[in-house]
Amino acid sequence: MLPNPYSPGELPRVLAGREEQQNRIRGYLSRIGTYGEMGGPLLVFQGPRGVGKTSLLREAQRDAEGHGFITAWVSCRRSAPFLPDLVSRIGKAIETADILPRAEKGRWGLRLERIGVEIGVPSVVKVSASASADRYEGDPPRGARISALEDLLHETSRQVRGRGGAGLVVFVDELHAAARDDLAVLLNAMQNLAGKREDNPFAVIGAGLPSAPAALVKAATFGERSTFLTLPRLQPAAAETAVAEPADDLGVHWTSQALQAVVSEAQGFPYLLQVLAHATWEAARPSREGVVLDIDDVNAGLPVADDQLTTMYSARWAAASDLEKKIMAVMAGAGSTTVTRAEIAATLERPTQALGVPRERLIDKGIIEPVGHGELRFTMPGFDRYIRETLATGAPSDATDPALGRLGAGRRRRELPPASDGGHDTPQL
Ligand SMILES: Nc1ncnc2c1ncn2[C@@H]1O[C@H](COP(=O)(O)OP(=O)(O)O)[C@@H](O)[C@H]1O
Ligand SMILES: [Mg+2]
Repeated sequence: MLPNPYSPGELPRVLAGREEQQNRIRGYLSRIGTYGEMGGPLLVFQGPRGVGKTSLLREAQRDAEGHGFITAWVSCRRSAPFLPDLVSRIGKAIETADILPRAEKGRWGLRLERIGVEIGVPSVVKVSASASADRYEGDPPRGARISALEDLLHETSRQVRGRGGAGLVVFVDELHAAARDDLAVLLNAMQNLAGKREDNPFAVIGAGLPSAPAALVKAATFGERSTFLTLPRLQPAAAETAVAEPADDLGVHWTSQALQAVVSEAQGFPYLLQVLAHATWEAARPSREGVVLDIDDVNAGLPVADDQLTTMYSARWAAASDLEKKIMAVMAGAGSTTVTRAEIAATLERPTQALGVPRERLIDKGIIEPVGHGELRFTMPGFDRYIRETLATGAPSDATDPALGRLGAGRRRRELPPASDGGHDTPQL
């Protein structure tokens, strides 16, 4: 039995089709590596869930470490501040890299603790007596937090550089969920350090939903000076690589018909590619090199893939407001991949502006996305079919509803058409 090489929801074994973005990141970091100066303003990749932001950043992290950088990674959550985490991650990174001479380790540890206190690391973290003597009553004032973070980024990146490393790279995932106050502190600290760029060999790279830019601007007006890059779906050739290569590495191959079926169904959406390929592999269970996966295997795996996707779609549908559902229903029923704002308004018999708020919310949540000239589409191909079926069958939309039984059980079983003309629907972004 060969292991399933696909990874829905986890890092891909093969990161396909991201050369452009990887080069962009390398270019950004090369300034630090070459001149020892700050990389530039915050670099942010935005896109819907499942398009591959975390995967790209993790690969960039590995690449940066390979080039002598020390890296720290934090992932923001709605309910919690992320700066305390950042302090401890940077501390750990320095410790792991083991760049400090033994004699300096203790001093550095205390320094880090002190910075932690100034930034407002919660008291559950063990703090030495000398550092806790300076503890603030309640939260430290913002100015103090900003200069503490400046100290942290400045001193750490100088340490790394001084010990022969390239510099420090901080990765902040799920930026849209960042606590506003923490985000403001980060942006202000970066802004202040940019005034002395040659003295601060670090960079911050982030990723988040399409609402991330707005979150940054709300936190600090100059947040808009960040560099925002939209992470597109994969081009057809890259989508093929994403599916074929992990199998090739195990000596298992896809027929071109099977490959085309998966690629055209997923329309370049990485998560979908992984789910479909994973399900195909499970259905075929290749036990040795030389096995070939064909269209029958794809179709045999399809119910499992559909069930998995249905779980996700139903959660999204259930979380939407009534007006959001109405908009999505119109889009799903339109019979075309993209729908204009005007069409939606006309069908709902409302002025376009009246739909602005729910429409933006759907965009912010990464459920729909604009594609040029007032047109919108679902970020995940397949969600439209789910909505059509849900509305047609009147099936409960709550994934946890026991009445639904096995998820998607009542749904029509699908079969993918044999090889089409090769992912013609894949957008050229
Ligand atoms: N470039 C890629 N090539 C192949 N698979 C990818 C690629 N990018 C992402 N994936 C896969 O897509 C899914 C979603 O990726 P992830 O990075 O978690 O997306 P996001 O962070 O945007 O939600 C994962 O299963 C991952 O393995
Ligand atoms: Mg992610």
